[in-house]
Amino acid sequence: MEIADRTAPAVIVAIDGPSGTGKSSTSKAVAVQLGLSYLDTGAQYRAITWWMVHNGIDTDDASAIAAAAGKPDIVSGTDPAGPTITVDGTDVAGPIRTAEVTAKVSAVSAVPEVRARITELQRALAREAVGGIVVEGRDIGTTVLPDADLKVFLTASPEARAARRSGELKGSDVHATREALVKRDAADSSRKTSPLAKADDAVEVDTTDLTLQQVIECVVTLVGEKRAGQ
Ligand code: DC
Repeated sequence: MEIADRTAPAVIVAIDGPSGTGKSSTSKAVAVQLGLSYLDTGAQYRAITWWMVHNGIDTDDASAIAAAAGKPDIVSGTDPAGPTITVDGTDVAGPIRTAEVTAKVSAVSAVPEVRARITELQRALAREAVGGIVVEGRDIGTTVLPDADLKVFLTASPEARAARRSGELKGSDVHATREALVKRDAADSSRKTSPLAKADDAVEVDTTDLTLQQVIECVVTLVGEKRAGQ
């Protein structure tokens, strides 16, 4: 295992890809191993979606979402050993994972005002991260941090992704999970503003037949290679 080197220059790692590719587990573990901060940008989009639902805003009404996008105060804690997320001071780590938020997050995150607001938060956190940061999401390499030192795009077959998600959501139906996941990816990939996409200079890693440990090692090696070439 690579030991965190506190004297190494700050490194910014962007990890993008659809859900169920192992993005969160990989990003967190890489950040822990390398002593970097960690940001789950999906959690931020889920948090703003939770706030909209909690405040009775119709998530099918893009102009209502746009008008409210600046209101919630979303704060992300970037310690990979214990990432946190609060909205107006309330811990929402649990509520943002409900089926209702999951079903509505694509519509909310497609609104340009929401993306502008959250992108600003993400860039500020990346700027402030001493030593560097691993940022995971859908548009990090393409839009949020186009100058990242390393960009990784994780993929996996829809079957593998659904099986992983069903394992996380204990006892859920794999076929229903696959349908929901494919639908959400289609919405995230086809929206106008910063869709889910692989940056031209991203390294694509197909995780279908890899264990989590293998994916983590692959990304740690890629970071090491980047640092050696700096
Ligand atoms: O990673 P996740 O499943 O928690 O992400 C939830 C949703 O947030 C996802 O369906 C699309 C949106 N998202 C986004 O639009 N851009 C990002 N950088 C991260 C997530």
